[in-house]
Amino acid sequence: MTRTLVTGATGTVGAHVVRELQSRAADVRAFVRDPGAAVAVLGDVEVAVGDFDDPASLRRAMKGVDRVYLCAADGPRKVAHESAVIDIAAEAGVERIVKLSAMHADPESALPAYRWHGEIEAHLIRSGIPAVILRPAFFMTNLLMIAGGVAQTGMLYAPTAGRRVAMIDIRDVAAVAAITLVTDGHVEQRYDLTGPSPISFADVAVALTDATGRPVGSVDLTEEQARTRFEGAALPDWLAAHLAGVFGVIRAGGFERATDDVRVILGRPARDITAFTHEFAAAFTPQTVPAGRHP
Ligand SMILES: NC(=O)c1ccc[n+]([C@@H]2O[C@H](COP(=O)([O-])OP(=O)(O)OC[C@H]3O[C@@H](n4cnc5c(N)ncnc54)[C@H](OP(=O)(O)O)[C@@H]3O)[C@@H](O)[C@H]2O)c1
Repeated sequence: MTRTLVTGATGTVGAHVVRELQSRAADVRAFVRDPGAAVAVLGDVEVAVGDFDDPASLRRAMKGVDRVYLCAADGPRKVAHESAVIDIAAEAGVERIVKLSAMHADPESALPAYRWHGEIEAHLIRSGIPAVILRPAFFMTNLLMIAGGVAQTGMLYAPTAGRRVAMIDIRDVAAVAAITLVTDGHVEQRYDLTGPSPISFADVAVALTDATGRPVGSVDLTEEQARTRFEGAALPDWLAAHLAGVFGVIRAGGFERATDDVRVILGRPARDITAFTHEFAAAFTPQTVPAGRHP
């Protein structure tokens, strides 16, 4: 039986990758910084405790491992972190890496995270380790970042110029990762992963109205209005620049193409926005104050 090391195992996608692998009876080891926190997120799973900045911990984690799911957090250390995993996997004779990348990854990109992904993809290919590269589009879970604002104002604000986005549910990304880790026929492939069809933010507002039972409108911000919001959001500079850039890609129609890759790999359609908004309706709904707690 092959053993898979899941890096970024407590991350939003990684935690689902662990579950998807377990549901396929795969032998899984999760690479985690904090085992206590990992148990809370992942439940019963073998863990290897370590840090991407500690090569010895990566070497220990890689012992007896055949396959690796590769994902570190976005940020200025991302290329160093994922490159360290690749180099140590090569030393250890790992036979396959499935890398979570991003649509529009490009070492020349002006957008920080797309540039980092492009550099890591190039490093992975140079390593010679058989690889599968997953390039998802915009995650539906990004909407959760503004869920509180939608709950408060009943409005969805985004600088999209009315363009559509083939947004994807992260559970489909994780399911594709798990299948490409445990089944053959995917090595040397690069998959562009999207939801079933492109939708506008006005469509998302309609789905939220239906899911929450409260009217949700949508407002298309200008690029300038959006920049002020990103700059005022106390984000790291690279993240504010990246988010502004992502909406630039959206306004240029860069996420309008839906692909068939999820359906072909999973053998079922990709999840749509209706399923997502119903599941997360509470996050987009004002919290009621419990009886007796009114001021
Ligand atoms: N958002 C989108 O629309 C979108 C679209 C396409 C692609 N993507 C890509 O998706 C990826 C994000 O995946 P995700 O959401 O699953 O990641 P995430 O939630 O940010 O998780 C990052 C993981 O890395 C771990 N980690 C951070 N620093 C570490 C260190 N020094 N040593 C060991 N582990 C460390 C974290 O562990 P702790 O729990 O210990 O912090 C966590 O498990 C990014 O690469 C992003 O570019 C995103």
